[in-house]
Parts: sequence; structure tokens; C-alpha cells
Amino acid sequence: MCFSMLCIIHNLFPPPPLQGCDPCSQTQRSKLQHRRARINQQINKEMRMRAGAENLFRATTNTKVKETVALELSFVNSNLQLLKEELEELNSNMEVYQTESEAINVPMIPLGLKETKEVDLTVPLKDIICEHYGEDSSLFEKEIKEFMELRQAMRTPSRNEAGLELLMEYYNQLYYLDQRFFPPHRTLGVHFHWYDSLTGVPSCQRALAFEKGSVLFNVGALYTQIGARQDRSATAGIDRAIDAFQRAAGAFNYLKENFSNAPSLDMSGPSLCMLVRLMIAQVQECVFERVTLTTQDTHFITQLQVAKEAARVSDVYSLVLQTMSQTLVKDYVPFSWASMVQVKAEHFRALSHYNAAVALCDHTRGDEESAKALFQFHVSTPAGPPLSQVLRDPEDRRKLGKAHLRCAVIRHEEAMRVHGLCKILRKMDILQEVLSFVYKRSLDKYSEMDREDDFEETAEAPEIHSQTQHKPDITAPNFSTVPVTDIFQRLGPLSVFCARARWGPVRVVSLQRGDGGLGLTLRGDSPVLVAGVVPGGCAQEAGLREGDYIVAVDGEDFKWAKHGEVVHILKSCSDRGVQLSIITLHTHDTQVGVVVSLCLDACCACVTSH
Ligand SMILES: *[C@@H]1O[C@H](CO)[C@@H](O)[C@H](O)[C@H]1NC(C)=O
Ligand SMILES: *[C@@H]1O[C@H](CO)[C@@H](O)[C@H](O)[C@H]1NC(C)=O
Repeated sequence: MCFSMLCIIHNLFPPPPLQGCDPCSQTQRSKLQHRRARINQQINKEMRMRAGAENLFRATTNTKVKETVALELSFVNSNLQLLKEELEELNSNMEVYQTESEAINVPMIPLGLKETKEVDLTVPLKDIICEHYGEDSSLFEKEIKEFMELRQAMRTPSRNEAGLELLMEYYNQLYYLDQRFFPPHRTLGVHFHWYDSLTGVPSCQRALAFEKGSVLFNVGALYTQIGARQDRSATAGIDRAIDAFQRAAGAFNYLKENFSNAPSLDMSGPSLCMLVRLMIAQVQECVFERVTLTTQDTHFITQLQVAKEAARVSDVYSLVLQTMSQTLVKDYVPFSWASMVQVKAEHFRALSHYNAAVALCDHTRGDEESAKALFQFHVSTPAGPPLSQVLRDPEDRRKLGKAHLRCAVIRHEEAMRVHGLCKILRKMDILQEVLSFVYKRSLDKYSEMDREDDFEETAEAPEIHSQTQHKPDITAPNFSTVPVTDIFQRLGPLSVFCARARWGPVRVVSLQRGDGGLGLTLRGDSPVLVAGVVPGGCAQEAGLREGDYIVAVDGEDFKWAKHGEVVHILKSCSDRGVQLSIITLHTHDTQVGVVVSLCLDACCACVTSH
């Protein structure tokens, strides 16, 4: 309970949320997470029951018992099936993130964010501040609070640029947290809990790398949501979607290459590989949309290019489907995703054939350039008359066009069949509309081209070469776009005041100018190093040693002081002298140690040459 006035005011006027944080989404998400956790518990219970029943089934010889157990098993199995479907529906939430405008866009696959549990780092951080840094930890409450609030805010990033910046900001702060509070091969003893993005299965690790990786995953996931919600009826929206999906691919790729042994499946190598390919395929689909939107002319060659572009989209989706059917990923990818990918592979193959048919039938010109384009169009030579003749003869063109249309119709039908098998996709009206629309368009064209005297069976058209005008990029995350200041910078410059380094207690020495000056040389900035002391000089008498760092002067913090500042203050010190607070680094087995000892060697040289 809290009774102070300040606290009451605080509750009446809660502080504004951090930029890029959307607290309202928290309740929604935690509800979702709650349901996921509940279903997972039920699944685990059913799995245990199944294991028990299976053991009993194997062990018993009694037919009556066997029958009862078999019945029980089938019951458990159908329960499991239902639970898994329920979970999938929760996790695939494709509809949730689609564009909010009225424009008709084919849906894209977005990812849900990984959820995390609250952790309180206050006590472990205070312990380290006190024990390792020798500081009064109560003076760092503001910093610890700021860090904890940042972590809290980044759990619910808003679905826009500001939300991305919030995640990046936290990611960048984790770099400093790591340097300050995690010595090599050690942890804070605190567990970081994160839930799998697709299954909601919880994992936990003490390594900060898990926290960093999970945040990076969410950067990628947020980009997929931003990409999926763009209105792609105009080029500006398409370009934004392309950019977002490329960055999503970049985040997942970075994760795949820099973080290994993640405890959850969504961050495993095969799964990340699948996600990268999926994002690339979605980019390629956007590129196709852009090409069809911006292609004004209906030249033969242009239309062949559109057909090749569609073939390319189909190819990349087929590749995704392959990746999705590999072990580890197969049982994990939602059925609706695999269905969507297969639908798109078929859909774009159909579009490719349709465009080929239109090109062949709507044109009569047969110049040299058109001939060249047609010769390079197919994967294998079409059956029937040579292509040079096809170009000249309208009837031959009609026949080849009809062959392509036949392929298109078959592919449309396959796309609709796969679509019909998935309950979640069936609920997506837009996808249904698009599929029916293009199917009807192909059928209409087919009847337009059909002649009563077409007695021969229409030949199979060969596949179409896939080609694109724009190869997707994998845009790696650029962490320096969100510069941050180390929250714990008051602990001192990271080059010395980090978790890896060890130093002795602060010594305070009184330095007074003698006849030969102060008798020391200084080097470097933040913190300033005592590079050498003149034997028998004042500094040595006072107890200063080579390699000491000056952390305070006359009680004032000087850890961040520049060389010039310290020199100035020493030069202008009165007869009373100055008090220097100094520390000596101990460890030399770390990277810091190496740097320091190199630096010391250099200093010795400079002292002797004086
Ligand atoms: C992380 O992976 C990227 C490739 O996506 C690579 O360019 C980069 O060097 C890696 N970073 C580290 C620290 O290994
Ligand atoms: C990353 O972002 C910074 C700051 O915006 C920029 O100066 C730098 O060129 C970018 N790096 C890359 C590789 O894009």
C-alpha cells in the first residue's frame, strides 16, 4: 500500500508512455499469451496421457484391456488434434495484421511478437554496483529504474517506426548492460523468459544473448507486421512493404548468423532460414505487384516480361514450401502458412501462363525483337511448329496461347483446391475473391480463344523462364541508426569500468608541488592515466604509481575527464596541493588487461626519454 501524496498524484496522472510503446496492446497480447499457455498445458497433459496409454497398450496381453486402451488412445489423439488446431488458429493470426484500408490486397504472412515475462534486475544490478564498482548502489536507483522501464516499454512496441526504434534502443542498451554487468562466462543468476513466437512454448536462459536474440527476433517480426499492413494499391505502399520485408529478412538472417543454440524453435537455424526465404518471397510478390501496376504499355515483349516476373514469384514460393517441409520445421510451421505458400506458388504459376497467353493472342506484330524475346521465353521448346512460324501465323499463336491458358486453368484450380483445404485461409475473403477473379478471367479468355473446330487436344505448354527486374535484398539491421547513451555511464568510461576488469580500492593521495614540479606524466582521456612518475619526485613520494587511473580530484568525479582538464587543474593547483583519488587495475588476463599493459609499456618508454 502506498499513502504518500506523491504516489497518489502519480497514480492519478500516470507518466506518459515511452515513445514507441503502445500499452493498450499489452492487455490484448497478454490475453492471447494466457490462452496459448493454457492450450499448451492441455496439450502437455494429453501427451502424458497418451504416453501412459501407449505403455499400457504394449504391456497388456488382455484383449479386453487392449480394446479399452485403444479406445482411450483414439480419444486422446483426437483431443490433441483439436487442441493443436486451436493453438494454430491463435498463432497464425494472419488476419489481425493485414492492412486497415479498404484496398484489396492479397494477404501476406506476418509474425507475432515473442512475449516475455517480467524480470526484476534491481537486486543483482545493485549488488554488482556495490561489490564490483565499489559505489553506493542507492545512488543508481534512477538508472536502474530507467533501464527496467525501457524493458517494460519494449514489450509492447507500437506497430510503426517508433516501435522499431524502441526495440533497437533496448537492444543497444543491452550491449552496455553486457559490458557493465556480465563478466565473461558469468550471468546475473536471473532467468530471461521468452515464449516461442509460433507455439507459445516458454523457454528460459540466463545468458543475456537470449534476451538480445529475442529482441532482435521481435525487430524482424515487427517489420513483417508493418510490411503486411501496407496499402499496396499504390507504388508508395508497395515500396514500403518491400522495404519492411527486406528488413525483416535482414533481422532474421543476422540472428541466424550471429546467435546459435537458441533454446526455442522459432530462433533455430532451420526455422530462421525458412523465415528469411518467406520474407524474400513476399518481397518478390510485391515486386510483381509493382511491375503490373506500373506497366502501362501492352507490348508483346512487356507482357512476356510480366509472365516471367510471375514465374519468378512462383519459383521463390516453391522454394519456401520446400524449406517448410524439411524435418524440424515441418511439424512446427502452421498448416495455414504452408497452405498459403502453396496457394501462392500455384496462383503465380497460373498468372504466368495467363500473361503468356494474352501476349500471344493479343498481338500480331512479329518483328525481330519479339522473336528474340519469344525464343528465350520458355524453359523448353514448345511442341508443334517452330517459334519463328508461330510468330508469323496468328492461328499458331492462338494454339500456343490456348495451351498456356490450359496450364493456367489447371494451376488456378489447384490453388483453389489447396485453399479450400485450410480452414483459416477459407476465412480470408480477400484471398478467396482474388483466386476466383483470376480463375474466371482465365476461363473467359479460354472460351474466347476456343473454336468449335478445335478437334485436336490442346498441347501442354512448356514452363516459363523465371526472371525479375528487381532481385530482393536482405537488408541487415543497422543498429547505429538509433544512437543511445549508456544508461549506466556514471559508473565511468567503459574502457576501464566494465565487468571484465578488476581494480583495487580507491586510494586518495595528497599531491603538493615541489621544486621539480609534480614529477609525473599523464596520458589519455577518460580516465586519465598516470603514465610515469619521476623517481624521487613528488608524485612518487605521495604514493602515485605508473598505471594508476585518476578517478577524482579534490573529491570531484574525474572519471570522464579529458587529459587537458587534469593537466590544467594540476598546473594551477595552489600551494595547498590537490587530493587525487586513484585506482590500479589488477587483471591482465582479460582484453582490457592486454590493452592496459601495452599502454603501460609505451608509457615507460616515454618516461625514460624525458
Ligand atoms: C552478423 O551477421 C552478419 C550477416 O548477417 C554479418 O555481416 C556480421 O558480421 C555478423 N556480426 C557478428 C558480430 O558476427
Ligand atoms: C547506419 O546508420 C548510420 C547512421 O544513420 C549511417 O551513418 C551509416 O551509413 C549506416 N550504415 C549502413 C551500412 O547503412
